[in-house]
Amino acid sequence: MARLINAMATEQIEHKTDQRAYSPGLEGVLAGESSLGKVDGERGRLTYRGYPIEELVRAGTYAQVAELLWTGVWPDSAHLPTAPLPDPVVAALRALPPTAPPMDALRTATSVWGAINRPGWPPTVEQARALTALAPSALAAFARIRQGKAPIDPDPELELAGGFLYQLFGATPDPAAARALDAYFITGAEHGFNASTFTARVITSTQSDIASAVCGAIGAMKGPLHGGAPSEVVNQLHQIGSVEHAEKWLDDALDRGERLMGFGHRVYRAYDPRAAALRQVAEGMAGMADWLSLAVAVEDMALRKLAQRHPDRPLFTNVEYYAAAVLQGIGLPPDLFPATFALSRHAGWTAHVLEQAVANRLIRPDVRYVGPAERSLPGVGATR
Ligand code: COA
Repeated sequence: MARLINAMATEQIEHKTDQRAYSPGLEGVLAGESSLGKVDGERGRLTYRGYPIEELVRAGTYAQVAELLWTGVWPDSAHLPTAPLPDPVVAALRALPPTAPPMDALRTATSVWGAINRPGWPPTVEQARALTALAPSALAAFARIRQGKAPIDPDPELELAGGFLYQLFGATPDPAAARALDAYFITGAEHGFNASTFTARVITSTQSDIASAVCGAIGAMKGPLHGGAPSEVVNQLHQIGSVEHAEKWLDDALDRGERLMGFGHRVYRAYDPRAAALRQVAEGMAGMADWLSLAVAVEDMALRKLAQRHPDRPLFTNVEYYAAAVLQGIGLPPDLFPATFALSRHAGWTAHVLEQAVANRLIRPDVRYVGPAERSLPGVGATR
C-alpha cells in the first residue's frame, strides 16, 4: 500500500487537461433519438409512441403494446403466446444450481437460444417476437426445475402473461390475475434510455445480434440500482406489519438515514404515472383487501414524512410500490420479481434494438483521461 501511495505521489497525473463537458452517469446527456417511449419526469407523464400509459393499461394488452413498439402501428388485436423451449435451453436450465438467481437463468436461456438460432443482422420483428415469447417459458421452467418439478409446455391459446402463470403454477390462471400481470407487463414495457435499454443499443450498434443485446440488457437490469426494488417493498410492508406500527417504523427508518422503498425516482418529480395505473389494477384484484389497505395507508404516511423531511426535493411513489402489490397479489415468489420485470421489458429492449439498427452508428463515446502523463518504463528509453 505504502509503495502504491509513493508511486502515485511521484507520478505526474494528466488531470483534467481535456476541458470538454462531462456528466457522471451521463445524467442529462442526450445519447440518441427515439420515437418509442417519452418519459416526462416533471409532469409525471409516460407515453409509448405518443399514447399515454394509463390509456394503454386501461384499453390495451401487452401483445398490442409490443406490436406498437416493434412496428409503430396500434393493432386492433394481437396474440402473443409464450414459446416452446428448445431442448438445449431446457438442458442448460437443468444444469444450473437451484440457488442460481432467476435473472441468471433468464440470461442463460437467452444466450443458449442465440447460440442455437444464430439470429442474423439486421434484427427483425420476428426475432423480437421470438425472444419476447421465449423469456416467460424460460423463467417459468427454471422456477419449476429448481423445485424438482418438470417444466410445462406453453398453451398456445393463452397470452404471454397468462401463459407465464400457467407454465409457472401448472394450472389455468385466474383471468383477473392474468389481466393484472398483463397490465404490469404494459407498465414495464418501455422507459426510454434506462441502463439496460442503453446497453442493448450499445451492443446492437456493433452489429452484434439481438440475443446478445438482450443478454446484455438482462445483465444490466440485474443490478439492484435498476431492477431490484419491488421485493424490497414487500419486505418493508411485512416489517411494518400493521397500520398502527407504520408511523414509528417509518420515523425510525428515516432517522437511521434509510431510504423508503418504492419512493423517489431519478427522473420523475411527480407521481409516477405507472404507479397510478398499477394502483388501480391492484384495487381491482380480489383477495388483496388487507394488504392493499396497509399499502395505501403506509403510502399516505410515507409521502407526508418525505415531504416534511425533504421540502425542496419532490419525492413521490414510484412504479415499484404498486408493482409489489400486483406481483404479491398474483402469488409470485418475491425472488422472481426482478426477472418478471425483465420479462415485461423485452418488448422495449427489442424495439430499441430494431430502432438502433435502422439508423445505426457505432456507439463509442470518448473518455477523459486522468491517468499518468506519458512516461517511459523504468530503465527503458529515458532519453527522447
Ligand atoms: N426515501 C427516503 N429518502 C429519499 C428517498 C427515499 N426513497 N429517495 C431519495 N431520498 C432523499 C435522499 O436521501 C436525498 O436526501 P439528501 O439530499 O438529504 O441526501 C434526496 O432525497 C435526493 O436523493 P438522490 O439520491 O439524489 O435521488 P436519486 O435521484 O439519485 O435517487 C432513487 C433515485 C430511486 C435511487 C432513490 O429515490 C431511492 O433510493 N429510492 C428507493 C429505492 C426505490 O424505490 N427504487 C426504485 C426506483 S424505480
